[in-house]
Amino acid sequence: MTDKSLIDLSWDDFDEHRDPRPDTNDFDAVVDKAISRRGFLGGAVAFGSGAAVFGTGLFHATGSAQAAGHAAFAFDPIDVATDFDVHVPAGYKSEVLVRWGDALWSDADGAYSAETGVSVDMSDKVFGENTDGMELFEVDGREVIAVNSEYVNPKINLPAASEGKPQNADEVKLLKNLQGVTVMEVARGDAGYAVVKDSPFNRRITHETEMVLAGPLAGHDLVKTKADPSGTQVKGTMNNCGSGRTLWNTYLTCEENFNGYFGATGEEPAGEGYKRYGIGGEGRYAYEKFDPRYDISTEPNEPHRHGFITEIDPTDPTSTPIKRTALGRFKHENASMAHALDGRVVVYMGDDERGEYLYRYVSNGTWQEGGATEGLLDDGQLYVAKFNDDMTGEWLALTPEATSMTEAEILCFTRMAASAVGGTTMDRPEWVATNPLKAEAYCALTNNKNRGVKPNAGGDDTSVNAVNPRETNHYGQIVRWTPENGNHAAIDFTWDLYVMAGNPTVYDNEYAGSQNVNAGNMFNSPDGMVFSSDGMLWIQTDGNYKNEGDFEGMGNNQMLVGNPETGEIARFMTVPYGAEVTGLCWSLDKKVAFVGVQHPGGSWPDGEGKPRSSVVQVWREDGATFG
Ligand code: FEO
Ligand code: CA
Ligand code: CA
Repeated sequence: MTDKSLIDLSWDDFDEHRDPRPDTNDFDAVVDKAISRRGFLGGAVAFGSGAAVFGTGLFHATGSAQAAGHAAFAFDPIDVATDFDVHVPAGYKSEVLVRWGDALWSDADGAYSAETGVSVDMSDKVFGENTDGMELFEVDGREVIAVNSEYVNPKINLPAASEGKPQNADEVKLLKNLQGVTVMEVARGDAGYAVVKDSPFNRRITHETEMVLAGPLAGHDLVKTKADPSGTQVKGTMNNCGSGRTLWNTYLTCEENFNGYFGATGEEPAGEGYKRYGIGGEGRYAYEKFDPRYDISTEPNEPHRHGFITEIDPTDPTSTPIKRTALGRFKHENASMAHALDGRVVVYMGDDERGEYLYRYVSNGTWQEGGATEGLLDDGQLYVAKFNDDMTGEWLALTPEATSMTEAEILCFTRMAASAVGGTTMDRPEWVATNPLKAEAYCALTNNKNRGVKPNAGGDDTSVNAVNPRETNHYGQIVRWTPENGNHAAIDFTWDLYVMAGNPTVYDNEYAGSQNVNAGNMFNSPDGMVFSSDGMLWIQTDGNYKNEGDFEGMGNNQMLVGNPETGEIARFMTVPYGAEVTGLCWSLDKKVAFVGVQHPGGSWPDGEGKPRSSVVQVWREDGATFG
């Protein structure tokens, strides 16, 4: 594979490039198990009733989008779209709030040009590219959004002659600055919400921002570098994917495909950890050629300082972001915090790679409203989820005794610790969401073409099992679990599948999906998930939008609403062809939803020139609230 083609891969396929599937496999055992699993499921018709795995049994297949949502939702569900626009239900409106390249400070006005994109010298003063997770915060009645810019598309940002690879340090700087996190004040005016230019809260946090490494791994030899012999001062947060917020209202940004930023210009360092995390060879953006910090031949520990959850105080623009090593190092998708009955703080987290794991952190200390937060994200226990086929499950503690690893090794090589204790390999855990109305949590398992086909990067078995029941899973499913006694800190839980995505117009077997999927609401690859305050589950997709073959009838990526009690799911929004929809938060009065539209196609939203990743605002014309 050449330099040029690396950049054309999705992050998921980038993993595959690093860890290709073998030419030949002994699939017999895998296939046998998959077939017996099919027998247990009994085909799509039985999903809601015969197989308790698939939810409450209350789901009703219906023939149209309208019928699917009519009873339970405050909107008429919309049809699929295949065009280059955003669509919302009748009675709702949508407008762009902010686009890649829009100035956050007035001295950056004009930083973006339709022909050349963003200029290097203004690149840390504009809204970054490829918006992702976000949260809205209140500061003395003002509204401040913290929002991730996950990655960049160099073919859009760099001159065509570069063919998608930076050719000098300035071009690397441009790419670094357009990723990370944006903190921005927003305010409502006559034309809806707008970014408050020059607000004292506005801030860009990039791959170069100074931050602190905290928790048990801080200061360890594994995280010391030439530039930071203390192992506590880190530059940058990268590949900021999904989001979370603490009970004390700080922002959690989650470092996902951090591995792709590092490369080797010479000899590669030895160690299982590099392979398990997909670190080696060429970096995706050639950073290592122009910045030695990203060159693992000379700085083998720099990658050990990324892949964490980073806490940011969006109310204080001078605050130093803190990387929380106690929450483990992996491809963090997002974070959902819950308050255990005994006051401890619980964080649910997915590791988005094929056959990786679902995790939970439980603090040792307790929190109460207005109380101290010191140590709550530095001192606690990390667990990996084990899902049993009888719909029970347990959290396996990642301790030195259980893993034969030191505490520092567990936090630096968390995937290897999870493998050591026998967690359940999952179909790419994306967002986790905790129901605000009852003690239950959900995880979107987006898809996994390798389920039942090949092991994960650590060699762990990925045969089908009850929670990941389909081999070569192109559609994905959402699992939910209820902790014992309603206590998120409990070891035991029970689980079911809230939905199995599928295509009932193409298949009449398990690939048709569960009974709450029908021709009117079907989708693939659930990814973002956020609960509104009324206990409705908003589901965002990042899947195949070609609308053909297995995906015919699904159209562009979309946002749906799920009712956890009835299982009903209805389509609320579709995004332009090519885009995924990711990131969701609401205005303080809940009248406006802010929704992220990442990597759109065509020339959306400007109608000419480059496509621009954007946050859009959606509201109901009669002024009703969301949730
Ligand atoms: Fe950045 Fe797994 O999504
Ligand atoms: Ca995602
Ligand atoms: Ca995804």
